[in-house]
Amino acid sequence: MKIIVAIDGFAASGKSTIAQDLAEKTGYTHIDSGAMYRAVTLFGMQKGLVTSSTSIDSKKLIELLPTINISFDRTPENYFTMLNGKNVEKEIRSLAVSNLTPHIAKIVEVRNFLTARLREMGKNKGVVMEGRDIGTVVFPDAKMKVFVTAPLNLSVERRLEELKQQGNPATYQSVEDDILERDKIDSAWTYPAKDAIRIENGAEPLSAIVQHLFSIFESLTAVP
Ligand code: DC
Repeated sequence: MKIIVAIDGFAASGKSTIAQDLAEKTGYTHIDSGAMYRAVTLFGMQKGLVTSSTSIDSKKLIELLPTINISFDRTPENYFTMLNGKNVEKEIRSLAVSNLTPHIAKIVEVRNFLTARLREMGKNKGVVMEGRDIGTVVFPDAKMKVFVTAPLNLSVERRLEELKQQGNPATYQSVEDDILERDKIDSAWTYPAKDAIRIENGAEPLSAIVQHLFSIFESLTAVP
């Protein structure tokens, strides 16, 4: 029996790595909903509709939502987000996109548009979908829900390392400010479902966390 695994959590909590590893172990498709919010933001920036957090032409962006096609492509090692047929994986991870995305995610029509897309992508189950509101809004009936948190210092270090690897080194303070600011806005739609399994990332090795979740997954999908 296939199920939906919803993995939610705040910025840089490490939910992506957990979701990827669990998808690999279960053979399920990994869907990163944050990448889709980022892609809509990038689309708005490319069209000149999003230039700063206070300069967003949301009316025009909403009008253009039906022209946005977001999909995922992969090689054995990598996962790419495609925006209207173009690989935008690198661009959507930039600091500019990261900082502007919470302001785009606030727009109700954007949330409704992406929620509908995500429901379509998960309609046959067999997905590990990560985000903020997957277990509460997108798939409130998901059979397995996980909510990931991490201590702030570990989130900052994780994000600093990611930025370094992308060739965008930043200071500890700027990354900490950035995460706190994003979490402040995102907290409106980032909270655990009542029936979510709570994971504090950092308390034990990642492999142990994934193994623990995999055991729960196995018990939930076991055929009686
Ligand atoms: O998980 P992430 O950092 O890549 O998410 C990018 C942004 O998208 C972040 O501001 C939260 C927002 N988001 C959302 O509002 N709902 C989701 N289901 C996923 C992400």
